[in-house]
Amino acid sequence: MVILVTGGAGYIGSHTCLELLNDGHEVIVLDNLYNSSPKSLERVEILSNKKIKFYRGDILDKNLLSKIFAENKIDSVIHFAGLKAVGESVEKPLEYYENNIGGTIALLKSMRENDVKSIIFSSSATVYGVPDRSPIKEEDHKKDCAHPYGWTKSMLEQILFDLYNSDNSWNVIVLRYFNPIGAHKSGLIGEDPTGIPNNLMPYITQVASGKLKELGVFGNDYNTPDGTGVRDYIHVVDLARGHVKALAKIKEDCGLKIYNLGRGKGESVLDIVKSFERANGIKIPYSIKPRRPGDIDSYYCDPSKAERELGWKAEYDIETMCRDSWNWQKNNPNGYR
Ligand code: NAD
Ligand code: WQD
Repeated sequence: MVILVTGGAGYIGSHTCLELLNDGHEVIVLDNLYNSSPKSLERVEILSNKKIKFYRGDILDKNLLSKIFAENKIDSVIHFAGLKAVGESVEKPLEYYENNIGGTIALLKSMRENDVKSIIFSSSATVYGVPDRSPIKEEDHKKDCAHPYGWTKSMLEQILFDLYNSDNSWNVIVLRYFNPIGAHKSGLIGEDPTGIPNNLMPYITQVASGKLKELGVFGNDYNTPDGTGVRDYIHVVDLARGHVKALAKIKEDCGLKIYNLGRGKGESVLDIVKSFERANGIKIPYSIKPRRPGDIDSYYCDPSKAERELGWKAEYDIETMCRDSWNWQKNNPNGYR
C-alpha cells in the first residue's frame, strides 16, 4: 500500500517507516522537522535499502496537503505528527491545541476531499487519566486528563469517533500507546530529545553516558511494590510493528477500532534502573526526589484485544529495550546532531 506517514521523521514515526518499508509498503512522509531531523529518514533508507518520498512541511498547510494527495495515490494515513511534551503543553496550551487538533482537522478534511478515508491515529494511555484498574482494557472509561497534551489526544479520539459516526465509509484505528522506549538494534535510529530529557529512559541513557550526573527518581512512596512509579514499557520496534498489523486490519474495511499497544506488564522506575544496569554493565546513580506533579502511581494495559484482532503481540523484553536504548545513545551521543 501507499502510506502517508505524518510525523514520520520522529521517534516512533521513523521506526514505523522502517517496518513499513520492510513489509513492502511505499512510504511518503510529511514532517515539519519541528522535533526531528531529516537524518532519521536517511538512516531508515540505509537500513531498508529503499527510498522514502519526503515533504518538509506542516499538517496545518492545506495547500501542501492538497498537493501531496494530488501527487500520490495514497491508500492510508498513519498520523504521528503532533507536539508531545507534557510540561510544555501546560505552558503553551493554545499552541498544543492549534497544532495537534487544528493540524489533525486540516489533515482529515484534506483526506475527505481526496477520498482517502483510512487513518491510524497515535493516541496514548494518557486518555485513561487515573485509571480505575490495571490491566486497563479499551472499553474502560476515559477520564479527565492531567494536562493539555493529554486532552488533545482525548479530544482527537472524540473527533475521530464523531467523524466515523457521520460517515461509516471511514476506517479509523486508534492506537493507545503505553510507554515506548528502546531503539532499532542497529543503533542508527532512536529517540532524540532536545535539552534535558523529561522521560525516564532518555534520562537514564544520558546519566550512563556521563552527560547527566544522576537520575532523580520522582517519589518512592507510591502504592507500588517498591514505592516507585509503575508503567507498561514497550519496545519502539514492537510498537512500530503494531502499525503494520493495524494496516492489514484497515485494509479489510474494519470501521472504527481501538487498541492498547503495550506489553501488559508493569515495571517500576527502580526495576528499569536495575534492568539497565544488568543489560549494559553500567551503574546508574540515582537519588529519591519529590513526586512529579500529575504522575500516577501505577498503570499497565491488557493488550489481548490487539493480539486477538490484529495478531500482534510485543516480543521484546525490558533488558533488550535497555540494551537497544543504550546502543543508540552510545553511538549517537548528540542524537542526530
Ligand atoms: P516525535 O516528536 O519524535 O515525533 C512527532 C513528529 O511530528 C516530529 O517529527 C515533529 O517534527 C512532527 N510534527 C509535529 N507537529 C507537526 C506539524 N504541525 N506538521 C508536521 N509535522 C509535525 O514524537 P513521537 O514520540 O515519535 O510520537 C509520535 C506520536 O505518538 C505523537 O502524536 C505522540 O503524541 C504520540 N505518542 C507518543 C508517545 C511517546 O511516549 N513517545 C506515547 C503516546 C503517544
Ligand atoms: C515514567 C516513570 C516517572 C523521569 C509520558 C507521558 C504520557 C506518554 C508517555 C505520550 C514515572 C518516572 C521519569 C525521571 C523518574 N506520552 N521518572 N525520573 O510520565 O509515564 O508518560 O510519556 O502520550 O502521556 O506523560 O513517562 O518516562 O516521563 O515517566 O523517576 O527523570 O518514570 O515519575 O513514574 P510517563 P516518563
